[in-house]
Amino acid sequence: MSVIEIVGGKQLNGEVNIQGSKNAVLPILAATVLVNGITKLNHCPKILDVFHMIKILESIGCAVVWEGSTIIVDSTKLSTSTIPEDLVKKMRSSIIMMGAMLGRMGSVVITFPGGCTIGARPIDYHLSAFKKMNISIEEKDGLIYCSTTCINGTDIYLKFPSVGATENIILAAVLANGKTRIYNAAREPEIKELCNFLNASGADIAGVGTDNLEINGVSSLHHVIYTVESDRIVAGTYLAAVAGTGGKATMNGVDCNSQQSVIQVLEDMGCNIKCGMNSITIESSGKLKPVSVIRTMPYPGFPTDMQSQMMSVLMKSSGVSRIIEDIFEGRYQNVREQLKFGANIEILGREAIVEGVSRLHGSEVYASELRGGAALVIAGLMAEGKTVLHNPVYIERGYEDICRDLSCLGADINYIS
Ligand code: EPZ
Repeated sequence: MSVIEIVGGKQLNGEVNIQGSKNAVLPILAATVLVNGITKLNHCPKILDVFHMIKILESIGCAVVWEGSTIIVDSTKLSTSTIPEDLVKKMRSSIIMMGAMLGRMGSVVITFPGGCTIGARPIDYHLSAFKKMNISIEEKDGLIYCSTTCINGTDIYLKFPSVGATENIILAAVLANGKTRIYNAAREPEIKELCNFLNASGADIAGVGTDNLEINGVSSLHHVIYTVESDRIVAGTYLAAVAGTGGKATMNGVDCNSQQSVIQVLEDMGCNIKCGMNSITIESSGKLKPVSVIRTMPYPGFPTDMQSQMMSVLMKSSGVSRIIEDIFEGRYQNVREQLKFGANIEILGREAIVEGVSRLHGSEVYASELRGGAALVIAGLMAEGKTVLHNPVYIERGYEDICRDLSCLGADINYIS
């Protein structure tokens, strides 16, 4: 079994180029199904979730090749509207294939994606929106059968600005008959990227970047070449690592605009952040102040995908901080591993009380999901001595090569297969 070995206690200095965004490229790969032709996507991250999404595209008849970090998808010939069950079970975000398949083929059969370590992750908002768009949905033996003779545009009011539901509705609406308005749409930068990609391929989406999207159905989409932006959560993870260890480092390829809530917290801790045209530089003494409260919220609030990483940083701050995880009920599963470093964390329902300690010690820990695993890497970098992290495969789902990137900053971190 592979592990990541870390010898902590060193400051991080230097610069690192940030990979393409996982949560932008996944819905855009789904959207290539709507383009009856060739799509070229530049700056794609070589991560397990992308390899998995490519397998799903190939399973329905797409031809997909890599050229460096460019993915070329030919979706001219689709052979089936059934997505293999094993592929869906392995990656629940494959659910965003539904809107694209319905838009292109008028039908999709997919297994219920189930929950994961961080939460139950229901898809009721997705399914109720599809029903309003003249899509019939039948659930039988754990499979969801969706079909329509014609998707009709309509007004959709989302109870919660769900990222996946917003993406699925957009994908179903792009080639629909008429106009679809989404009220209370998610505003994450990845939604904006999906809309920009679709508009570049001939879609007609207005209100991009706002919580009111208006999609006028068009008859077809044409081929397009698109460059995926850098991953704001990967950049945020590395900013947090430097905050925790102390040092000075620059993240290339990202800008401060999509990181405001994370930057605010880092500055509250006493870090110095400088925004470049297409980079972010952080300087930290490693002696951090506590933060009165961090509450995870939909964008532009503090991202839930940065919660575990920030908790690791606060484990060594000079006081008591409060974290409230309002998005995923299972995200605190990772705390039992963080406690192994000698941290002082108490969980009260959705709240975590983190009392900073002066020293953390290396430990043997087990990752069980993507961002929790990244948080354990940060704790290992901050701890004195050696940390052995098991199940690094979870981290590889979203980080191209966390050991390569952090070694660029001087970390003593190695992947041992
Ligand atoms: C996306 O997940 C991201 N995944 C997640 O990143 C991210 O944490 C999340 O958005 C929130 O920002 C991808 O983009 C591939 P949601 P998604 O629908 O779409 C509830 C990572 O680490 N909900 O916005 O599944 C749900 O239970 C991953 O990169 C319903 O109740 O998130 C949750 O409490 C983890 N019914 C909340 O909404 C629904 O039909 C937010 O979920 C849909 C969602």
